[in-house]
Amino acid sequence: MFDQIPLSKSREKNYDTLQGAFNGLIDAQENRITNLANASALIYYFMDTINWAGFYLTDEEDTLVLGPFQGLPACTKIPFNQGVCGRAAALQKTVIVDDVNAFDDHIACDARSQSEIVVPLIKNGETVGVIDIDSPEKNRFNTLDQTMLETLAKTLVDKCW
Ligand code: SME
Repeated sequence: MFDQIPLSKSREKNYDTLQGAFNGLIDAQENRITNLANASALIYYFMDTINWAGFYLTDEEDTLVLGPFQGLPACTKIPFNQGVCGRAAALQKTVIVDDVNAFDDHIACDARSQSEIVVPLIKNGETVGVIDIDSPEKNRFNTLDQTMLETLAKTLVDKCW
């Protein structure tokens, strides 16, 4: 059904469509994994120039474990404070890396990835997971992506946690 929605050349417009699709598809009554699986599919469809989009979810002892995603298989566990994901989880702030080759602590899962954005999912002050998106182009992510993905993150946490 969603492949019939045309993509715009405007990233802002695509985010608006994505947010609308999110609101329609992410059902608070559903299983959390079900909703996150559909969320990763929507992000992967509506964002251009990306090669991986998905979730890491907080497990015991401040460790992130791989959740639903689209893209190549990825590393399964990331401690808080390691990698871009762990940093965003520990700081509770969005982290944008313009060039992963210049980021010492980057954990390479897909050799094509050149830039990355990680947005924390925060519930009652606790990091419950992160959204992680990789691009095969350097400098792919900017403040528009940050603003729109933080809104999506809030919708997800409100509906799924
Ligand atoms: N690059 C991430 C690891 C996850 S993969 O990108 C899917 C990081 O440094 O935390």
